[in-house]
Amino acid sequence: MADRERLFFALWPDAAVRQSLLTVQNQFLPPRTRRVHAEDLHLTLAFLGELDADGRRRAEQAAGRARGSAFDLSLDRVDFWRRPQVFLAGAAVAPAALLELVAVLGQGLAEEGFELERRPFNPHVTLARRLHEAPSQELTVPLAWPVRDWVLVRSQVAGPAPHYQVLRRWPLAESASPAGSQPPP
Ligand code: 2AM
Repeated sequence: MADRERLFFALWPDAAVRQSLLTVQNQFLPPRTRRVHAEDLHLTLAFLGELDADGRRRAEQAAGRARGSAFDLSLDRVDFWRRPQVFLAGAAVAPAALLELVAVLGQGLAEEGFELERRPFNPHVTLARRLHEAPSQELTVPLAWPVRDWVLVRSQVAGPAPHYQVLRRWPLAESASPAGSQPPP
């Protein structure tokens, strides 16, 4: 049987954002919890599942066609999802550019024959798993994440963390005239 890889598209934090996520883990989680490894922290855009080489090629083709714009994400809340028992950082308001990226990527993947989950996209960074109760505090200072690119990731759940490896990166277009940088008339 051909080799298969478990793949997903994600936003991948840089060192500064990763450090901020670690600070949130340290602030909210008791020591003996199953924290997501620092190098595995990410925000999933689309989960692809187990793909062979042709599946990966089609996924990368869809990614190459999915043009998106840079945006700033504010992770402004922590939450506990009782059924999957995960503790996460999320955004009260998802930036339009993030929703557009997920939509255009999903459309491209559908054109390549992928059947993606129908659950609505709920952007989040999982910080810990197998938690039994919600941490009681709230996030007081939002975590600012300047998102300038997105990635394809391979997941290898067997063995010790980190489990994820970034395989490819696609840039997001900077907006043509950010506020305050227009040329003089
Ligand atoms: P989670 O963080 O909410 O668990 C790699 O498994 C990533 O893909 C994780 O971030 C996981 O989300 C996400 N994912 C989405 N759908 C998945 C699925 N059906 N199986 C495994 N992971 C999934």
